[in-house]
Amino acid sequence: MVTTVASRVESLSSSGIQAIPKEYVRPEEELTSMGNVFEEEKKEEGPQVPTIDLRDIDSKDSEVRDKCREELKKAAMGWGVMHLVNHGISDDLIDRVKKAGEAFFNQPIEEKEKYANDQATGQIQGYGSKLANNTSGQLEWEDYFFHLVYPEDKRDMSIWPKTPSDYTEATSEYARQLRDLATKILSVLSLGLGLEEGRLEKEVGGLEELLLQMKINYYPKCPQPELALGVEAHTDISALTFILHNMVPGLQLFYEGKWVTAKCVPNSIIMHIGDTIEILSNGKYKSILHRGKVNKEKVRISWAVFCEPPKEKIILKPLPETVSETEPAQFPPRTFQQHIHYKLFKKTQTLEDPTK
Ligand SMILES: [Fe+2]
Repeated sequence: MVTTVASRVESLSSSGIQAIPKEYVRPEEELTSMGNVFEEEKKEEGPQVPTIDLRDIDSKDSEVRDKCREELKKAAMGWGVMHLVNHGISDDLIDRVKKAGEAFFNQPIEEKEKYANDQATGQIQGYGSKLANNTSGQLEWEDYFFHLVYPEDKRDMSIWPKTPSDYTEATSEYARQLRDLATKILSVLSLGLGLEEGRLEKEVGGLEELLLQMKINYYPKCPQPELALGVEAHTDISALTFILHNMVPGLQLFYEGKWVTAKCVPNSIIMHIGDTIEILSNGKYKSILHRGKVNKEKVRISWAVFCEPPKEKIILKPLPETVSETEPAQFPPRTFQQHIHYKLFKKTQTLEDPTK
């Protein structure tokens, strides 16, 4: 099945409609918590997503280094999401990645359709929009571009955008640097559980098998943002997720029973702990429920890189060192693929979307 131009949210948005189609309207029970995201981002009261400064993560001064690592561990246990600053990836490279993604999306829809994915035949990489896959027919207010960016020998370069010309180089270099950052974070999280430094890295597949998949989310302006969501509430299935965005607010985290709007922190990378690390750590590190809001005034773009274990090769279960008589295993053993199925099944029961 070839997805038609008419199904793109961008074309809906630019058609000038004042009311969104019913497939995009959230269920009644969700509509009570949908305020204006610009006002919500400005709020200073209440809990805030932690900002973790990584400058001292490898400091020669052990006291300074341990303090930095302790803060990262605390944020991963308390929130499972954080703004990383001084992460070591240059502002210049991040600007190039963003400019390249924006330039791709700034092309006419017809150009982007040349890269359309085909979910029916399993060609999931490329340009796409969510297809209604359940009886409620619920849709999300976004289009996206999805592709594997690391390891390099597993990439399908035929689907990578040829326009703009810097896309491949900037995105490849960003993926390489993010892969190094993932190793560093995984080592701190390992030490935080009293494990050997390289343990979590090994448990999620190491350099050869951990897959980095980039999803550029494009959220067009929405005439009724109080009724729609860009991404519905879910937890990430990944080990770690790293997110850049174009400084338009939209990410909300479900923390202590309330939706908290993430601030736009300059030069930061948002990092989520995903289900994979939550399972391996027996719930000590948290995979937090989150969603993406849309707005009337500004297009929002985010670049999420999901670091995922191979689908079948690894059995995910709480590591023996994280289990004790007082802390029994919270998760039954499963492959990553089985975990995806488990969440899809749960979705049909609860309408929670587990696919991201
Ligand atoms: Fe997510």
